[in-house]
Amino acid sequence: MKQNTTNNQNLVKNETSNAKNRSVLQVTTAKTTLEGEGFVVHRAFPNHSLREFDPFLLLDEMGPIDLSEGEAKGAPDHPHRGFETVTYMIDGVFEHKDSQGHSGKIRAGDVQWMTAGSGVIHSEMPEKEFSQKGGTLHGFQLWVNLPKKDKMMKPRYQDLPADKIPIVQNDGVKVKVIAGESMGKQAVIETRTPIMYLHFTLQPGAKVTQTIPQNYNAFAYVVNGKGLFGDEQKPAHKEQVILFEQDGNKIAIKAPNDTESPLDVLLIAGVPLGEPVARYGPFVMNTEEEIRQAVLDYNSGKMGKIDF
Ligand code: FE2
Repeated sequence: MKQNTTNNQNLVKNETSNAKNRSVLQVTTAKTTLEGEGFVVHRAFPNHSLREFDPFLLLDEMGPIDLSEGEAKGAPDHPHRGFETVTYMIDGVFEHKDSQGHSGKIRAGDVQWMTAGSGVIHSEMPEKEFSQKGGTLHGFQLWVNLPKKDKMMKPRYQDLPADKIPIVQNDGVKVKVIAGESMGKQAVIETRTPIMYLHFTLQPGAKVTQTIPQNYNAFAYVVNGKGLFGDEQKPAHKEQVILFEQDGNKIAIKAPNDTESPLDVLLIAGVPLGEPVARYGPFVMNTEEEIRQAVLDYNSGKMGKIDF
């Protein structure tokens, strides 16, 4: 017993001495662009300074836009193959339909984790009723790459209503655990490769140190307010994306004392796949040949159609 106690103490000591806060690799600002029928998105990446951040292919902030009557625009029927789309609504209601016969509404606070796999055709539109009434539409779409072995898997959905997403609050910090684990709570979503997707809200002066496995790539996106990031407390603000160095197993985020509004930030991380990426619009495969096949399969109707 004595021996064990000593070993445990050593372990704790070693863990503490090995703990290292990650530094910031780069801070960039999202580019405003139009998607689908012309709805405004702030694209964190890809852009000219960042093509992808393995295993992540894209992060779009949809809106926030105030819809007045008749203005609602969305993304009508379009295909995907080879990756996952993760839709997280902050405000408003999106309606989803696809070639597998699946349909549903994604309301404020809900998450839809769609594994496109071998291919789906879907439409993503502001809900009719919501658009007619008007209101704020605000959400996020993240594209997560699939490993080679899963690119042609059967498409699947995980619909995660807001009330199933664990929330922890402590010392001015609130976290919604969409994927992975934070502040002692585990997400309910199942991911193909290890992914962490956390939504933090920090009151002025609050700070959080999130454990991140050493082998994960990690980035943050500021939804609202201002924050100080990483070991060097690098400042970043709304619509900025912060990439962290891979070296280290903790990420520190702080809301400055002198700020008036809380800091709202997404912290997203995952194990890089380290595989070749061939991408063409809504298809993300490993080779150009597989992209050509995806286009052929789409054009010949093999991905089905939305017929309801
Ligand atoms: Fe889509």
